[in-house]
Amino acid sequence: MTPEFEKNNYMVIEKAIDPKIAEFVMNYFMMKRQVARTMFDERFISPSTTEWGVWNDSQMPETYSHYADIAMETLLIDVQPKMEKETGLDLIPTYAYARIYKNGDVLERHKDRFSCEISTTMNLGGDPWPIYIEPNPKKGKGGPNGYESEYTDGVEVVLKPGDMLVYKGNLCEHWRDKFDGTDCAQVFLHYNDAKTKGSKKNMFDGRPHLGLPWNWRENPVSPIVTDEQGNEIGVEEFNDSVDEVKTTGDIKVQDNFLEESQFQAIRDYVLDYDKQPIFNWFMSDVVRPQQNIGYTQWAHIVYGYGMVQSDFWNQIDGSGGLIEKLDPYTIVRIKLNLLTKHTEISESGMHIDVPYAPDVALTSILYMNTNNGYTKFETGEKVESVANRLVTFPNNMMHTGTTCTDEQYRCVMNIDYIKNQRTA
Ligand SMILES: [Fe+2]
Ligand SMILES: [Fe+2]
Repeated sequence: MTPEFEKNNYMVIEKAIDPKIAEFVMNYFMMKRQVARTMFDERFISPSTTEWGVWNDSQMPETYSHYADIAMETLLIDVQPKMEKETGLDLIPTYAYARIYKNGDVLERHKDRFSCEISTTMNLGGDPWPIYIEPNPKKGKGGPNGYESEYTDGVEVVLKPGDMLVYKGNLCEHWRDKFDGTDCAQVFLHYNDAKTKGSKKNMFDGRPHLGLPWNWRENPVSPIVTDEQGNEIGVEEFNDSVDEVKTTGDIKVQDNFLEESQFQAIRDYVLDYDKQPIFNWFMSDVVRPQQNIGYTQWAHIVYGYGMVQSDFWNQIDGSGGLIEKLDPYTIVRIKLNLLTKHTEISESGMHIDVPYAPDVALTSILYMNTNNGYTKFETGEKVESVANRLVTFPNNMMHTGTTCTDEQYRCVMNIDYIKNQRTA
């Protein structure tokens, strides 16, 4: 490490890239934002797609942000030799993250995660907006490492297009005050110091190569949780703000999963003919009438083949509460099943919902009505059908549903998905 970077913990590299290239990349990224917005709004792409960028990153919701845009990750490699020369370090590239800040944005004081050990923020263009850095790792607002809780003014840095601030992202607090301009495009290029323990294993942020979305990271099933300063404080547990959470091994049961009014609205849409007379059910492959076994299974696909397939989506998305609460990174399939009443409780057959889904995928079942049917698992465990109960288990776990004998039907909503992992 150069003595200067060692001592100061930050440095500014002017014209790390040619300002003309910065302008080109900015224009590219502004166009990508516009294209993404149109495609999301027109539902040309799935609402849980992240490959076109997102407006739901936890640090800056509502602001266009993008993990591993390919042009940005190309910059990550392009700038690496210059970075190594200026910092005197051998670097391991981890990932690039880009954002177009908008009017009113505030970047709270925070430190970054391990992959941002050697962090940079490069200005691509737009309105100037100072960033502040506290070079003393012991000073700042507070965090998990027990450093002093003290507000400091930090050092103000104003970057021109192509300039970049290099800093020890997981040591030094950095922040920005309220933005009064219109747009400010920044790309964060992150590296590890090759000498740091664990850095080689962390190459490309744990992905097989650059350019891939975050869910190619190793072990992406444990979502990273950060405190309000953005410090990593552990992995996410399932939302416990429900009445009761019972956990048996990999199977999690949550009662009263949705707020009562939300659940009622969802159930009525599917099952109350007076409130919603048109709701299509399709004969299911699993139990067809011609099998002549005394009951049938009907299905309604809400989400599948990478797209929303039914207007029912609008009931479960947004204020409907279900999608928000499940917090999927990506949805594989959402399907409602309705099994008609039978003279006995029949198990339909052990299966995996989506055999081609990655190992990190989860299956959740929301029970739409209370009845004496159940879900049975390969482990022998049974979960009873109770309205507004959610059971969650690994997608690759064998299970079966059943009929019921005490109600006209047993209705469930199956959600196959990968849970979100907050990344910034
Ligand atoms: Fe940061
Ligand atoms: Fe299933």
